[in-house]
Amino acid sequence: MPVSLLTGAGISTASGIPDFRGPQGVWTKNPQAAATVTIDSYLADPEVRRAAWRARLDHPAWNARPNAAHLALADLERAGLLRALVTQNIDGLHQRAGSSPDKVVELHGTLHRAECVSCDLITPMSEVLARVTAGEDDPPCPRCGGVQKSNTIFFGQDLDAEVLDAAIDAARSCELFVAVGTSLTVHPAAGLCGVALDAGARLVIVNAEPTPYDPFADRVIREPIGEALPMFVKELTHATR
Ligand SMILES: NC(=O)c1ccc[n+]([C@@H]2O[C@H](COP(=O)([O-])OP(=O)(O)OC[C@H]3O[C@@H](n4cnc5c(N)ncnc54)[C@H](O)[C@@H]3O)[C@@H](O)[C@H]2O)c1
Ligand SMILES: [Zn+2]
Repeated sequence: MPVSLLTGAGISTASGIPDFRGPQGVWTKNPQAAATVTIDSYLADPEVRRAAWRARLDHPAWNARPNAAHLALADLERAGLLRALVTQNIDGLHQRAGSSPDKVVELHGTLHRAECVSCDLITPMSEVLARVTAGEDDPPCPRCGGVQKSNTIFFGQDLDAEVLDAAIDAARSCELFVAVGTSLTVHPAAGLCGVALDAGARLVIVNAEPTPYDPFADRVIREPIGEALPMFVKELTHATR
C-alpha cells in the first residue's frame, strides 16, 4: 500500500528543535521572531537580517539528531511502503535518519544551504555561517554583493513550482496520506490533505493539537509523535506482511 506523508515541525520537537505554533513554539514565546522569516521585513531591515543570522548560527538543527519518529519513516521506506515523504521542515533530519533524498520533498527548502536573493547563487550554509562567526553580521553574496538568506521559503514567497508539483503528485498517488506534527494551517502545504482525500486516499493525522483536517481524517492520533509514529509504522508494516 503506497503511503505518502506530510511532516511538520512537530516531528522534530523531540530532537530539540522547537515548533512555531505549539505551546513551546518560537512564535508563541516571541511573536517578533516571525519577522526574520517574512521576506518584506527581511529585505527592508538590516536589523532583522542581523537577528536572522544570529538565530541561524544558534539554530538547534546543527546539534539535533533524528528521533524515533524520523527513524520509523526510514523503516517504512525500507519496507517498500513509502511513496513520498513531503516535509515542511528545513532541518534535514529525515535524510539524516536514512530516508532517501529522492523520496524526501522539501516543500519549504533547507537550512543547510544559503541563497542570494539577487543572483540566486546557492552556497553551503556552513560557509556563510563561518563568515558570521568571523564577524560579518549580514554577509553579502560573494558573487554579486546581494542580500543572502537561508534557502528556505519565507512568508510572502511562493513555493518552488517543481517541488510543489512533486508534493501534489505524492498526495494524489497514495492510498494513505499521513500528516505528522503539523498544525495544518500553512498553505499550500496543508491543502495536500485535501488533494489526497479528493484522490480517494485515507487520511491519518498524528498531532497533539487539533487541526482543521481532523473532521476528515479516518483516524486522529494525539499521543506524542516520538512514540505514536513508530507504533503506527509498525502497524502498517505488519499489516502488509
Ligand atoms: N524542524 C524544522 O525544520 C522547523 C521547525 C519550526 C518551524 N519550521 C517551519 O515552520 C513552519 C511551521 O509549520 P508546521 O505546521 O510544520 O509547524 P507548527 O509549529 O505550525 O505546528 C506544529 C504542530 O506539532 C504539534 N506537536 C509539536 N510537538 C509534538 C509532539 N512531540 N507530539 C505531537 N504533536 C506535536 C504541535 O501541537 C503543533 O500543532 C513550517 O512551514 C516549517 O517550514 C520548521
Ligand atoms: Zn548574488
